[in-house]
Amino acid sequence: MSNYHIKNLEEYYQIYRKSTRDPENFWSEVAEEHFLWRRKWDQVLQWDFEKPEVKWFEGAKLNITENCIDRHLLTKGDKTAILWEPNDPAEDAQHISYQELYQRVNRFANVLKSKGIKMGDRVCIYLPMIPELAISVLACARIGAIHSVVFAGFSSTALSTRINDASCKMVITSDGSYRGSKTIDLKGIVDEALEKCECVESVLVAKRINSDIDMKEGRDHWLQPLLDKADDQCQPEVMDAEDPLFILYTSGSTGTPKGMLHTCGGYMVYTAYTFKNIFQYKDQEVYWCTADIGWITGHSYIVYGPLANGATTLMFEGVPSYPDFGRFWEIVEKHKVNQFYTAPTAIRALAKEKLDYVNKYDLSSLKVLGTVGEPINEEAWHWYNDNVGKGQAPIVDTWWQTETGGIMISPIPYATPTIPTYATLPLPGVQLALMDEKGEEIKGNLVSGRLCVKFPWPSMARTIWGNHERYRDTYFSAFKGKYFTGDGAMRDAVGYYRITGRVDDVVIVSGHNLGTAPIEDAINEHPAVAESAIVGFPHEVKGNALYGFIILKEVGETRDRANLRKEINQQITEHIGPIAKLDKIQFVPGLPKTRSGKIMRRILRKIASDDTSNLGDISTLLNPEVVRQIMDEKID
Ligand code: WTA
Repeated sequence: MSNYHIKNLEEYYQIYRKSTRDPENFWSEVAEEHFLWRRKWDQVLQWDFEKPEVKWFEGAKLNITENCIDRHLLTKGDKTAILWEPNDPAEDAQHISYQELYQRVNRFANVLKSKGIKMGDRVCIYLPMIPELAISVLACARIGAIHSVVFAGFSSTALSTRINDASCKMVITSDGSYRGSKTIDLKGIVDEALEKCECVESVLVAKRINSDIDMKEGRDHWLQPLLDKADDQCQPEVMDAEDPLFILYTSGSTGTPKGMLHTCGGYMVYTAYTFKNIFQYKDQEVYWCTADIGWITGHSYIVYGPLANGATTLMFEGVPSYPDFGRFWEIVEKHKVNQFYTAPTAIRALAKEKLDYVNKYDLSSLKVLGTVGEPINEEAWHWYNDNVGKGQAPIVDTWWQTETGGIMISPIPYATPTIPTYATLPLPGVQLALMDEKGEEIKGNLVSGRLCVKFPWPSMARTIWGNHERYRDTYFSAFKGKYFTGDGAMRDAVGYYRITGRVDDVVIVSGHNLGTAPIEDAINEHPAVAESAIVGFPHEVKGNALYGFIILKEVGETRDRANLRKEINQQITEHIGPIAKLDKIQFVPGLPKTRSGKIMRRILRKIASDDTSNLGDISTLLNPEVVRQIMDEKID
């Protein structure tokens, strides 16, 4: 029996037990047998959740790109590594073989070096889903530069905050991007952001839409001419297992995003291991994850996990609705996709359209379907199972986070029986705990509580860039000696987990993790706004949508409400991006507050969700009368 590849449920339980009995031995076997190390580790694991400090494979030396590219050249040089499908079906797909990927990554790495980028420098990548995105990520990893990919739907303000937080020396972007029938002026957004960033010395610009853009003399460089001149050999930097690999920002409960830092060795081992098992990938198969590389799902399961396994990973530039709602299924048929991994929000959006869009295509290549990012509701699960998988392709509902680096809870397809809405069982090495509000672990089955992890796993984020204290406070202070996820969960009679959603001030909208605090900060900057509170409420397609309760200043009271609503959403678009726009805005005379002045979001959440039968005791509020007023004027 191989620890690396789980084939049935019995094996899963055996391997799981082994992994928890002796995690160090388990992970060292996996790491030793399936990866290329320049030097072996001195110690498998060192940890202390009080500090908190976690080190995996300390003393080991490696380069993750040697594992993702070089070592496959001999046996898989001609195999397609990245299969790129453009926004517009009229444009040709690109098949980038492992050999070509090797050359393109090396060239890019040499360009980075020629612009003064060294090991440990931070490079911000703000690109659409074009091959250069994956290649630039790998080029950074090749030379030990720390990449910080910012999703190319974020606004210039959000971008500049992230560039400054990590003091990035370089930005990699493009002249623009295609998104369905629209184009977006990415370079313009970068220029605006850089007015506020002094740390950036150079900008590399890939050509994608051939638009006429401004190039700042001395700072901005077209990428292609530099690549053309660059050598296609670049020795990989030999990294320590615990050296940083990348920073990826995620929302938190304060205005500043958290730059989660991931390191080389453990991240590689865990993402590769989970990719192999959760998608049961076999050579010759084509795997497709529809996420953007700007999110953790794209980092771990478009780039690193699949490539470390020598897989063919499909990368799609466009959107599910362009040129029509059959685009996903057309691609599945065209490239004979075997594993398909997407978000519940995409499934719900497509399920609203005619079944014709699905039925027109031959989807018989599909063997495994996956979902990620938010709980999947039963209806969407059945639609996916019946119409896409035709009941033949098991659905893996994968639970994890930017912070966890890799999938933590998921069925193993063809091994774990699936149940709609259940993420089911923890991966080997993942030791979960449900906690009650008093901080005690809830043992046994048929229980619910706050979801924690009580033992380190290799791909956990090691810190928040530049703010270790915040890392400790956010994840390790709620429950002593445990990593707290921020999610609630229940465990059923057989030990399956079902995620019930966030228990903190993060709302998941269309699978995007949005903190309410940064949105409130953006709104409060509007001159007519005195104070605001944002909560999520259930939405048919997005899972959750945002509801804003806003108190106006006197200057705002006389203004036209419809205009104000538009301006407020504009303000949010500029500060964060269109994904954070509010669906409903209610102007209120006050917000329910505790006597210490804390906004009672629990009450607002119930009002926004039309669930006001049990508001709890509101008499202890500073201003209980405001609750009735808000309810009376609620927007439908
Ligand atoms: C939520 C995405 C239910 C959860 C990889 C988590 C899920 C947050 C699932 C992390 C799932 C993710 N079922 N909820 N299968 N997957 N979530 O950092 O609330 O963007 O804490 O990482 O998404 O979002 P993030």
